[in-house]
Parts: sequence; C-alpha cells; structure tokens
Amino acid sequence: MSAVKAVKAVKIVEVGPRDGLQNETRILTPSQRVELIRQLGQAGLRTIEAGSFVSPIWVPQMANTAEVLAQLAEAEAESAEPIAYPVLTPNLQGYQAAVAAGAREIAIFGSASESFSEKNINCSIAESLARFQIVTERARVDGIRVRGYVSCVIACPYEGVIAPEPVAEVVDRLLEMGCYEISLGDTIGRGTPKSIAALLDRLLATAASDQLALHCHDTYGTAVANIMQALGQGIRTFDASIGGAGGCPYAVGASGNVATEEVCFLLQQEGWDTGLDLSRLVQTGQWLYQQLGKPVVSRVNQALAGN
Ligand code: HMG
Ligand code: MG
Repeated sequence: MSAVKAVKAVKIVEVGPRDGLQNETRILTPSQRVELIRQLGQAGLRTIEAGSFVSPIWVPQMANTAEVLAQLAEAEAESAEPIAYPVLTPNLQGYQAAVAAGAREIAIFGSASESFSEKNINCSIAESLARFQIVTERARVDGIRVRGYVSCVIACPYEGVIAPEPVAEVVDRLLEMGCYEISLGDTIGRGTPKSIAALLDRLLATAASDQLALHCHDTYGTAVANIMQALGQGIRTFDASIGGAGGCPYAVGASGNVATEEVCFLLQQEGWDTGLDLSRLVQTGQWLYQQLGKPVVSRVNQALAGN
C-alpha cells in the first residue's frame, strides 16, 4: 500500500495592490494596478485585495478602485481559475459603491485601539462596530463574503502595547457579525513570537484556527518568526505584500507588510504547499518597484533577482 503524502497547505492573501500601494508617494493608475493584479494571479495567488472604497481625500492612492474592478471583470472572463478580489469598505457608503462596482467580497476594518480607530476611520471602536453591523447585515442579504480586520493587535502607534483581551472583544464581535475570517493586523510590526503566542492563546479560546489570519508588517524584521509561531499554533492563512510594499497612512513609522516573496520562500523551504511560483513573484516585485521608481524592499527578491 502506497503511503499518502500529507499536504501541508497554507493560504497567502496578497494585499499589495491595497496595503502595498496605499502609502506610496507615486500613485499608480488603475491600469497599472490591474497589471499588477494580473501578474499576481499568474504567480498563483487566489485572493488578491484589489483596492479600497474609502475617501479619496484620505487615501488618494486608492481612488478609482471601481475602475480597477471593471477592468478585472473584463479579464476574468478569460481566466481559468476563479480569483477573489476583496476590497476594503469602512462604512455603508463604501459598501454600496463596492457592490455597484461588482465586488463579490469586501473587508471591514476595525481596531483594538481607540486612538487608531479615530485616526484611521474617524470614529470610536463602538461607532465602527455599529457601522460594520449595518454593512454585514446588508452583505448577508446580498450574498457578499466579508472578511474582517482588527488593527493594532500587538501595539498601537499612539497607545503603545495592546493586551489580548481588547483584541478578543473586537474579533469575537466581527465573527458574530458573520465575517468568515479575521485578519490580525500587527500594524506597526512590534510583534515577536512571545507576544504573538500570548495573543493567539487568548483568541483560540473563543475562535477556531481557520477563522484567523495573521497580517504582519515587517517594521522590525520579526514577521517571518511570527509566522512560524502562528503556524505552530494552527494558523494557516497569512497576508503578504509583493516586494514588501506598503504601510498604513495612519500609522506613522509603520513599514510595509511582510513581502510575499519572503513568506513564499520561507514556507516552501519548510515544506509547506503555497501554490505560488516564486520566480514569477520575483518578476512581479521587480516590475512593481520599477513603476514605483525605487529599489525593491524584499530581501528574498533582491537575492533571487541578483540585485
Ligand atoms: P469621515 O470624514 O468621517 O466621513 O471619513 P463622513 O461620513 O463624515 O463623510 C465625509 C465625506 O467623506 C463625505 O464627502 C462623504 O461622502 C465621504 P463630502 O460630502 O464631504 O464630499 N465619504 C466617503 N467617500 C468615499 N468612500 C467612502 C466614504 N465615506 C464617506 N467610503 C472614512 C470616514 C472612513 C471615509 C475616512 O476616515 C477614510 O476614508 N479613512 C481611510 C481609512 C483607510 O483606508 N485606512 C487605510 C486602510 S486600514 C489599514 O491599512 C490597516 C490594515 O492593513 C490592517 C493593519 O495593518 O493593521 C487593514
Ligand atoms: Mg496593514
């Protein structure tokens, strides 16, 4: 009898076209954003955040996301495998614009820190949850999938260390509202394996491991260590940004997300099936940074591209 090889599969959610671009000084056109998303799809990514329906005054980089979705819909007809293109929606206005533009999946984004909530979406945590309730009720009726984010799960740029308990309160509320998954945002990259372990120990007391994802910014270079820690605790979904691009405009000093190339390299070397083509990711990261007019951040990309 032949032994069946156990497949250790992980899912990588690509956030580069949203988190990666939202803080860049050079604003890409919708066509450039669509080309980036097309290349990411060719590298094997099956969930690619396509943009945000937020105020163009607050985040001009994400203006015209409706046009991005329209161009993607044209290209989708030719695509063999379905790709999810979630978009960020902070309120009902954003939700309605997203659905009118053809979005089938949205992400609502809250915070475990009051100060960050005020700076990022101009309302308290309680007000944000009331808005999300309205959005998720509408999404349920419309058959739209909803992902949830909680920012500042380890630390806040304004309040410092955030304990697991307030994070758990927001996570549990978003799950109750029907989010299929909550992405835990280490917004300013202060997490280390110890603090990630403590956070996950608390969250896994009330949530299942497949309801949680980790969203690491790599400000202090600890993201891959944190991902290994989370893997050990059963987490299988990780957000990453091509080339290591990005940062949050309302988290001063926060650098980009952990690079998709770093996560792919690490996990493949450790025997996990990512479904990704690393050499295509490297080409895409190089292409993106040419558009942005600066050298790629990802060290794996630099090493493999021979920079
Ligand atoms: P506000 O000023 O409080 O909104 O902004 P308002 O309801 O008072 O309306 C003011 C104006 O904004 C009105 O326009 C509205 O129409 C317009 P006016 O009448 O003055 O012409 N408006 C909108 N326009 C477009 N889309 C909308 C929308 N809503 C109102 N959805 C708002 C509130 C949330 C809109 C604002 O604060 C905003 O856009 N914030 C941007 C938030 C953002 O995108 N942050 C970055 C993403 S989050 C992140 O990066 C963290 C994450 O990666 C996880 C992690 O790393 O931790 C997810
Ligand atoms: Mg982020």
